[in-house]
Amino acid sequence: MHLPIRPRRNRQSPAIRDLVRETELTPGHLIYPLFLQEGSENTPIASMPGCTRWSIPGLVKEAGEAHALGVPAVVLFPRIPDELKTRGAEACHADDGLVPRAIRALKSAHPTLTVITDVALDPYNSDGHDGLVADDGRILNDETVAVLCQQALCHARAGADIVSPSDMMDGRVAALRAALDAVGFQAVSIMSYTAKYASAYYGPFRGALDSAPKAGDKKTYQMDPANSREALREAALDEAEGADILMVKPAGPYLDIISKLRASTTLPIAAYQVSGEYLMIKAGAAGGWIDETKIMNESLIGIRRAGADMILTYFAKQWSASWR
Ligand code: PBG
Repeated sequence: MHLPIRPRRNRQSPAIRDLVRETELTPGHLIYPLFLQEGSENTPIASMPGCTRWSIPGLVKEAGEAHALGVPAVVLFPRIPDELKTRGAEACHADDGLVPRAIRALKSAHPTLTVITDVALDPYNSDGHDGLVADDGRILNDETVAVLCQQALCHARAGADIVSPSDMMDGRVAALRAALDAVGFQAVSIMSYTAKYASAYYGPFRGALDSAPKAGDKKTYQMDPANSREALREAALDEAEGADILMVKPAGPYLDIISKLRASTTLPIAAYQVSGEYLMIKAGAAGGWIDETKIMNESLIGIRRAGADMILTYFAKQWSASWR
């Protein structure tokens, strides 16, 4: 054939493939979500093989190991004992609560580790919703935002670097920014769950924390998986309200959303490879049907290629231990 243009020339050796590679993934792009619980036990999570609900000492050790491998940040998810759960979720802003104690322990053991916290009521709420629930079952927006502000301030007082509202209430980014600034926490960042979809991929996570809603679903606040223009609307609002980082969640099934947000904002974009995405890879590999390491790598590079600057992933430590 007379073919002056042959794209395969750029794929002909590992060296040339290195030179032309467009997307990079390093441990520095990863955020490690970690589960924690009261007491001294570290409990393997049945619904998420390879993940553990850590005691505070176990959490400090695990975070330190990931940080030593180059992972810059962790995000914390607590399992709150049932007796502390209330309809007002008051335990979410107790200064001696599990999360503030964990933040203080992490920051004193690993001063260079960035500590991110989840701001939402579901672990603390006896109704299992991210917001307060009215007697008629409605999720109350403005009342919830007031509690989220108290929760974020509690995390900031304990030393959190970034607060990350995952609740999808309207107006919470502006309210959090104002609440933080009013008391001198200008340096605390907000990573907003901008486009968080009402997804079945969160199932294993809710099993890990016993945080599934007691009644109804999350469709009046989390987004409809059929929508993408709505993600741009949420992004414009979060940006105007002062978010520092915008997040898309889940990641793998929503690569088009990551890509659209990337094109529409100059802010950094985070993507959350959620529990169901993780579990499907683990389960496929456990059955001997797929190559775990290769699929892990491909799933993460795909999320980066779509436009995510950073990825929240349960693979953060495993990937960082094996990437070179
Ligand atoms: C709740 C929250 C959820 C996740 C992170 N924060 C679950 C939900 O919205 O029901 C899911 C994470 C995952 O599935 O890995 N505020």
